[in-house]
Amino acid sequence: MKVILKIRRFNPERDRAPWWGYYQVECEPTDRVLDALNWVKWYQDGSLAYRRSCAHGICGSDAMRINGRNRLACKTLIKELGNRITIEPLLGLPVIKDLVVDLEPFMKHYRSIMPYLVNDDPPPATERLQSIAQRERFDDTTKCILCAACTTSCPAFWARPDYIGPAAIVQAHRFIFDSRDHGAEERLRILDAPSGVWRCRDIYNCTEACPREIQVTQAIAEVKREILRRRG
Ligand code: SF4
Ligand code: FES
Repeated sequence: MKVILKIRRFNPERDRAPWWGYYQVECEPTDRVLDALNWVKWYQDGSLAYRRSCAHGICGSDAMRINGRNRLACKTLIKELGNRITIEPLLGLPVIKDLVVDLEPFMKHYRSIMPYLVNDDPPPATERLQSIAQRERFDDTTKCILCAACTTSCPAFWARPDYIGPAAIVQAHRFIFDSRDHGAEERLRILDAPSGVWRCRDIYNCTEACPREIQVTQAIAEVKREILRRRG
C-alpha cells in the first residue's frame, strides 16, 4: 500500500520555523511506523532526524506523536493508522531537530525522585527476600521504559513544565511500595511539593499513552493516598 507520511521538520541551524515534509512510501500493512521512517531516511532524505535503538518496544527511544497520539514508532503498525500518517515530536519538550526532543527536563524530574533502592542496612548473606505479595505490590510500575510518552501527553505538564510528571511518579511508585526500600518518606516529601502529585487532575492521557500498558493514573492515585495516609 502507498502511504503518505506528513512529518514535522525543524532544523534550528537552518529553519526559522517548523514546516511539514511529505513523503510517499510503499509499505506492507504489517510494517511499523519506524520501518516507514527508516525508508524515508535511507532512501529519500538522509537529513531526517529521529531516535530509535532496539526497534522492539524495549528501549523507549522512539516515542513520538503519531496521528495526534503519543506512541512508539516501533510498536505502531501502519494498518492501525491508514494511508495518511502525521508524525510530530513529543509535545512539551524543546525540539533539537525534527522528531528529536531534548529529554533533559524529563530526566531531571526522573532523577529528583531518587530512582534507586535506598537501604543502608548491612547487606544480608543472600538476597533481600520478598514474598510474592510484596513483589506484586509494585510489579506494574517496574515495566516503565522511560519513553516519556505519558509525561508529554499530560496537559498539566504542557502548562507547567516544573510539574514532576507521570513518569517520575511511576518510577517513585516502583520504590515507595518496594518492601526492601527505606526511602519512601523522602520521595513522598518530594512528591507532596507544589510541583508534585497534586498537579495531576486525573485526565488519563498518560494511561492511554503508555506503550507498556502501565496503569499510570492509578499509580499516581496510590501515591497520593500514601501521602494522605502518612499525614494521618
Ligand atoms: Fe513510558 Fe509508560 Fe514509563 Fe510513561 S509510564 S515513561 S508512558 S513506559
Ligand atoms: Fe526501542 Fe522503539 S526503538 S522502543
